[in-house]
Amino acid sequence: MAVSPWPLFDLRILTARLEIRLPEEAEFPLLIKLVDSGIHDPSTMPFVEPWTDEPAPRRQRTNMQWWWRQRAEWTPEKWHFTGAVFAEGELVGVQDIFAVQFARRRSVTTGSWLGRRHQGCGLGREMRGAILAFAFESLGALEALSCAFYDNAASLATSASLGYEPNGETLELRRGVPDRLVNLRLTKDRWDGRAHPDVRVEGLDACAEFFGVRSTDGPGPYF
Ligand SMILES: CC(C)(COP(=O)(O)OP(=O)(O)OC[C@H]1O[C@@H](n2cnc3c(N)ncnc32)[C@H](O)[C@@H]1OP(=O)(O)O)[C@@H](O)C(=O)NCCC(=O)NCCS
Repeated sequence: MAVSPWPLFDLRILTARLEIRLPEEAEFPLLIKLVDSGIHDPSTMPFVEPWTDEPAPRRQRTNMQWWWRQRAEWTPEKWHFTGAVFAEGELVGVQDIFAVQFARRRSVTTGSWLGRRHQGCGLGREMRGAILAFAFESLGALEALSCAFYDNAASLATSASLGYEPNGETLELRRGVPDRLVNLRLTKDRWDGRAHPDVRVEGLDACAEFFGVRSTDGPGPYF
């Protein structure tokens, strides 16, 4: 079989209900439609970078540039996986995972969002659990970081239910005004001590080096 020049497109992170993978360019309009349909109550801003405030079509172009940029600038030293999340075939949101110098630091950071009508029914927890399983079990991460503004109850509850611990607070600009960002950390030891979600990873062998980890011939961790 011919080797794909960009094997990241074949990477799949799978749970009972979800498939997480890089979106194809032909799927960008679907993602944009999901963003357009709303991610959060406009009276609040969950993101440090207030990208959802941009009016269309500027926001749509910024979104496309963002997804292109993450793959265009991908290196093993600095990577950012923008995983489109499909629930039983339907595009519902995005689960990101990114790292700098992962091979040495073994630290990842995650970020995510769901279309509003897909929120509150367990998908957020399931997709974060899936990406954590990928990070800890497949890539060999030692810690996973996240953060949320102090009043983002859904995001904080998602992190808490997966075992993250508070890791201090910082002041970040929120729509131009400083506000409290809660930092969160989940260590590999804590991950190991908890029940794990059922997650299957396909296609990592061919792209392990993209993440700064070496490929192996068989199943198991890549470190
Ligand atoms: C944050 C987000 C991804 C969570 O996904 P979700 O599918 O809504 O959350 P889930 O249904 O999986 O619930 C996860 C936990 O949060 C709790 N939760 C969900 N919505 C909640 C709400 N509005 N208020 C309080 N808790 C909430 C659930 O009870 C559950 O906790 P438990 O496991 O202890 O029972 C989603 O709400 C979202 O996209 N929000 C807008 C964008 C955003 O805030 N992104 C994160 C930026 S830091």
